[in-house]
Amino acid sequence: MARVFVSCALPGDALDRLRREHQVVLGGERIGVRDEAFDRDAERFEAIVSVVTDRIDAALLDRAPRLRVVANVAVGYDNVDVGACRARAIVVTHTPGVLTEATADLAFGLMIGAARRFVEGDRLLRRGAFAGWTPSLLLGSPVHGATLGIVGLGRIGQAVARRARGFGMKVLYAGRRRASPDVERALSANATPVDELFARADFVSLHCPLTPETRHLADASMLARMKPTAVFVNTARGACVDEPALAAALASGRPGAAGLDVFEEEPQVHPSLLALENVVLAPHVGSADRPTREAMANLAVDSVLAVLSGRPPAHPVPQ
Ligand code: GLV
Repeated sequence: MARVFVSCALPGDALDRLRREHQVVLGGERIGVRDEAFDRDAERFEAIVSVVTDRIDAALLDRAPRLRVVANVAVGYDNVDVGACRARAIVVTHTPGVLTEATADLAFGLMIGAARRFVEGDRLLRRGAFAGWTPSLLLGSPVHGATLGIVGLGRIGQAVARRARGFGMKVLYAGRRRASPDVERALSANATPVDELFARADFVSLHCPLTPETRHLADASMLARMKPTAVFVNTARGACVDEPALAAALASGRPGAAGLDVFEEEPQVHPSLLALENVVLAPHVGSADRPTREAMANLAVDSVLAVLSGRPPAHPVPQ
């Protein structure tokens, strides 16, 4: 029986499965590996089930010399120093696949919410400011038939492109690699240089991982290319965007609106974004439908069980 640190309670029964085979020490929500429950036993843990708010870096790994696996309950793993894990022969795993559709749903929701302004409308109603129907109340941008620019045509980007077809949208994409001709054909997606994509799209949606190349990909000059009617959406990672630059761009009306699920310094949101009407904000809930979060917890637990019993895990991160 190994000692496993689990950052915080997870939905579903995944942790019960883990407890049947190993000793689980649970950290506090929002504190995770910074909890004193981790400190107390650090040198005895053989596995960590981490979440996106846990920073798993060399300093932490040095305190946990028996660690064999870090199972991140997320598809992104920019919170884990994979190189430092590799150097210590620690396996890192993530939870791809199971959250693809949920995240694509939310990205589409943010696109529609920002373009059609119904979140602003909700605020207007609640403050008693709805004085009745008028022909020009909350006029927004159309979603159907618009041009969607997807940055990162991986699993989630492709799921967004599939939804776009139902809305009769034209799909452009940019990414590290060109998609296969089959994928391009199936999604009617056209490879486009990223700066041209920002200029041509009515919606720009980020679906790339956070890497040194994508940090602040959406900076002042890239955002300045967007149309005044366009909508910018980010369900990837906050740091893919220069947040003060986005706030300034939205304040000046180019792009016209944004939908954001992720932020550079979570849980902080740049104060000037909070002050803007033309941005729809969500608290990093891209994968937050119940079955999806339960499936993510199960995948992470499966990875821990596999590594601790000497089997290869199903979803190691590329090392
Ligand atoms: C969530 O942000 C994830 O990467 O799964």
